[in-house]
Amino acid sequence: MAETKAIGVIGGGQMGSGIAQIAAVGGIDVWLHDSDAQALSRARSSISGSLQRLVSKGHLSQEVGSDAMQRLRFTSSLEDFRSVDVIIEAIVESEDVKKKVFSQLDRIAKSSAILASNTSSISITRLASATKRPQQVIGMHFMNPVPTMKLVEIIRGADTSDGTFVAVKALAERLRKTVICSQDYPGFIINRILMPMINEAFFTLYTGVATKEDIDVGMKLGTNQPMGPLELADFIGLDVCLSIMKVLHAGLGDSKYAPCPLLVQYVDAGRLGKKRGIGVYTYHKVTEPRL
Ligand code: NAI
Repeated sequence: MAETKAIGVIGGGQMGSGIAQIAAVGGIDVWLHDSDAQALSRARSSISGSLQRLVSKGHLSQEVGSDAMQRLRFTSSLEDFRSVDVIIEAIVESEDVKKKVFSQLDRIAKSSAILASNTSSISITRLASATKRPQQVIGMHFMNPVPTMKLVEIIRGADTSDGTFVAVKALAERLRKTVICSQDYPGFIINRILMPMINEAFFTLYTGVATKEDIDVGMKLGTNQPMGPLELADFIGLDVCLSIMKVLHAGLGDSKYAPCPLLVQYVDAGRLGKKRGIGVYTYHKVTEPRL
């Protein structure tokens, strides 16, 4: 397959904005779509602010920063994805919603286009089944925050072709990421291991074993992690964490993956983490996604 020249990113939240930003910096033309006009305008200002910060800190030249901004196009219409080579989906972590979007993308995208999902846990094989091109559907799971985290986890569905895998691996490497490859099982590698730890931190808090601060300081200093698990959950988004636990629980069928009732309650209360200003912790101002 020829080198990727243009991509479409669907979902302009924390992850989609970061993916669009690094692709534009990497010299790729990017269309970014979100169904919510406000989210799209937040994405534009957060990418622009992030590029300006990178330029002012000397991590990026002024020329590359301005070129990246010019390569980005923000659109409210998916039809604009008609001629892109690769589409990366980064919308809400819901199988039903993602399947609807994949079937729409299948109708719109050119026949050679690859459809990738940034899903944290949902079956790539099932997303592919919503399309007539399952050999061109693949998981391309970036880490948060996308510009600084070095990893991309690639997930092959049951029918993903070697050509699709090779093209997406080359794209990830061009974006200066290290690639790991996972089979298509719930949570893949990263969230199969990370989310049960975060869920267990919620149980530790829920059952009164310790305060949130002691849990986080304990895991930071005791196991050498840059963030405690509860702080990390707030950063990821508690809604995203809960959706992943539900996928692990349903897909692996073991009660050890049952979401902690406290996590469920926080999400019910709209305490979704840093992006909403409140989760396990309270944040003084609603922070823009850190890019
Ligand atoms: P987010 O909540 O920040 O952003 C999701 C965006 O998708 C919102 O702006 C929303 O308006 C848009 N959206 C929802 N349905 C849509 C539709 N049908 N069409 C177009 N746009 C739509 O979520 P976030 O955190 O960026 O997560 C996105 C995906 O990335 C999820 O699948 C999540 O599991 C995955 N992911 C999240 C990570 C994290 O740390 N938050 C890390 C790695 C993957």
